[in-house]
Amino acid sequence: MINKGIILAGGFGTRMSPLTKAVNKQLLPIYDKPLIYYPLSVLMLAGIKNVLVIVNRGQTKEFKKILSNGERLGIKISYKEQSYPRGLPEAFILGEKFIGKDNVALILGDNFFYGQNLTKNLMKCRKLKNGAEVFLHPVRNPSLYGVAKINKKNKIEKIIEKPKKIFSNLAITGLYFFDNNSIKFSKSLKPSKRKELEIVDLLNKYKNKKKLKANFLGRGGAWLDTGSIKNFYDTSAFVSALEDRQGLKIACLEEIALNNKWITKSKINDAIKFYGNCDYAKYLKKLIKFPRK
Ligand code: G1P
Repeated sequence: MINKGIILAGGFGTRMSPLTKAVNKQLLPIYDKPLIYYPLSVLMLAGIKNVLVIVNRGQTKEFKKILSNGERLGIKISYKEQSYPRGLPEAFILGEKFIGKDNVALILGDNFFYGQNLTKNLMKCRKLKNGAEVFLHPVRNPSLYGVAKINKKNKIEKIIEKPKKIFSNLAITGLYFFDNNSIKFSKSLKPSKRKELEIVDLLNKYKNKKKLKANFLGRGGAWLDTGSIKNFYDTSAFVSALEDRQGLKIACLEEIALNNKWITKSKINDAIKFYGNCDYAKYLKKLIKFPRK
């Protein structure tokens, strides 16, 4: 059972400059909450209670202002600062001590997932004993992502990072489940042409050993990108449309913690005080009066 998860929340966010000059991208709003709430909610929905957040040098204090050590959510959050972003597999090298002898989930701090079967899917992946598992999802512009080709039995046959020639419309989303070899394998990777350790190179190591499994969010699932300013606003619009229509919040961390029985109503009251007079706190107030389905 995977009990540990890493959120990679470093990076320069250059495509979103000047917004990201002073503030880490993961602290910018997707509608009514900071972006980091969304990937953290995915780990929490997977039942993961021990989280390492990798941030840029000097930024831990900003993240702590909003997430602290996770106690408010009944989980444990620790931080690791990165001096320079050298690619996704670096998460396993920087996180070596945190991971210890365990298996681990990795989610990119700017990835947004939503869907009916998400929690069920995540719970299944969490059971990973050995190998690696990824989520694939169709996109219109595969050349922006890591791309996978699968055969009729849903086995991954080929993966390439940002292919120029399109051979599949299935992008590899930024949510991964790995066994403990991820540390050793990541250490053996060489930087690519863009001078980064590439996640596809790590995944290829698992694929070559026939240890890479594909999962699917399914047609009704949404995987949205928050890479560019336009994507950021599109994702905000998606969250706003659903939340305003249904009166249910997406990625309300306290609600997930309460549903998972990690916290009691008294912690929700603490959270209401922490947030102050805002819609998010009003939602929490309603939540303890009229629990939601
Ligand atoms: C990274 C990964 C890519 C993956 C994408 C998901 O891309 O390298 O394989 O599909 O995240 O968001 P990057 O953010 O470096 O463009």
